[in-house]
Amino acid sequence: MTQTAPIGEPGISDMTDTSMPETGLRPPAPAPRDRPPDLFGFLSAARSNPLTTWTKAHFEKPILYGKGVMGRVLVLNEPQAIRHVLLDNASNYRKDDLQRRVLAPGLGEGLLTAEGDEWKLLRRTLAPLFSARNVTGFLSIMDDSAQRLVARLTRRLPRERDMSLEMTRVTLDVLERTIFTHGLDRDPDALSRAITRFFEAVGPIDPLDVLRLPDFLPRIGRLRARPAIRFFEEVVGELITRRRALIESGADAPRDLLTLLLEARDPETGEPLDEISVQANIVTFIGAGHETTANALTWSLYLLARAPEWAQAIRREADAVLGDGPATPQTLDKLVHTRAVLEEAMRLYPPVPFMSREALGPDRIAGIRVPKGTLVTIAPWVLHRHKTLWEEPDLFDPARFLPECRASIPRFAYLPFGAGPRVCIGQSFSMQEAILILARVLRAVDLSLAGDGAVEPLHRVTLRPDRPVVMHLRARRD
Ligand code: HEM
Repeated sequence: MTQTAPIGEPGISDMTDTSMPETGLRPPAPAPRDRPPDLFGFLSAARSNPLTTWTKAHFEKPILYGKGVMGRVLVLNEPQAIRHVLLDNASNYRKDDLQRRVLAPGLGEGLLTAEGDEWKLLRRTLAPLFSARNVTGFLSIMDDSAQRLVARLTRRLPRERDMSLEMTRVTLDVLERTIFTHGLDRDPDALSRAITRFFEAVGPIDPLDVLRLPDFLPRIGRLRARPAIRFFEEVVGELITRRRALIESGADAPRDLLTLLLEARDPETGEPLDEISVQANIVTFIGAGHETTANALTWSLYLLARAPEWAQAIRREADAVLGDGPATPQTLDKLVHTRAVLEEAMRLYPPVPFMSREALGPDRIAGIRVPKGTLVTIAPWVLHRHKTLWEEPDLFDPARFLPECRASIPRFAYLPFGAGPRVCIGQSFSMQEAILILARVLRAVDLSLAGDGAVEPLHRVTLRPDRPVVMHLRARRD
């Protein structure tokens, strides 16, 4: 791929006014290549870890445009150009087949994978489920899940724990209880196992998808994912039937996401969602909300274990504003160091490291002629470490996100949740949950990495550590 037109003024954020020292911590990331790989190298890197396909030019040039393995491709790292695609001219773009094919087999026609009018209808019907009022209404469940996690972690200290597993458990617990109130009345780890199997199966990017070969050619990953998908459908289907019967009987139904989904009406037509759509969207919320939030938390803990001064800052503020009492929206607003660490963790390790769109019609982006069918890629992994947008992009420095600096980060330079009409619908849900969990855990225990603590980021649909993040937990000493 070659660069044809760098554009625009880089928006370098002002990171001078901070109340915390820089850590100087350079957490692990694969070194960018000098040159793009050849076809075979690209396909094999894309399958094993797509992060290793990026070149130095991607991290230095605002826009790269050329013909590659995937056809005509535009790689955007320029905030105005990204804004054009995700917001100003969003109707000229749809999620491309690669992104849809990787996600679609499990998530059916849920909100994440729907397109066109079907997506519009779904989005306007589902948006009220994640209103500020509803998300705040879930705070006590989230706090309870966080406290249960703390109780688990503080049992028999000191000891070692796989914190990636713990974060997976707690985020699943939150989702199960906010969707179904009483959880799934099955083996509590069965859903977690099915989800893990699903992501392991669909995770490696299939060369057939990269080459945009037709759907009738079977993908191994999709075949492997089928038992997990059948499990979701069966369990979730049963719960929907029971809840619908409860609502129809006139009894008081719990005010969880399942009831909200069954009661949701299209604001324009008054139509409810059909059975298949209710099921597809529940599976979508679990699929889209579980690993992403768990990974954001795991990376945050990993970084905090290597930057104890920030762990201490979180602990101090959690003591001061959270204490042992119940969390309220006002207390969460005051957890500014906790939020800053989480945002910096998602800058360095964006849970969704890659987004792509296909141009439905011709366009011009930053003066470049973009023919119909062009693949436009926006990779938070690259954007968040771009040399023209960030000072010392590879260093861990949460001070960038403290309130006095946050406003100087250009909106379209930082996209952990995407942007525009397809921005993550669960953004405030997951931020509320993750801030609370992080503050509660740091307040309860001292953490350090067990063994040599070596870990590398791996892109598998989401961006996760390539091995369990095992930590040594001790009771707090201060
Ligand atoms: C840290 C946690 C999360 C991250 C980083 C994240 C990231 C994202 C991103 C980047 C997108 C946009 C993808 C694109 O434009 O191509 C997205 C969309 C979406 N997310 Fe999230 N997400 C998170 C948590 C959640 C949660 C908790 C839920 C639901 C409970 C959720 C549900 C969705 C759905 C349904 C969409 C599709 C929205 C649409 O297309 O209209 N996400 N997410």
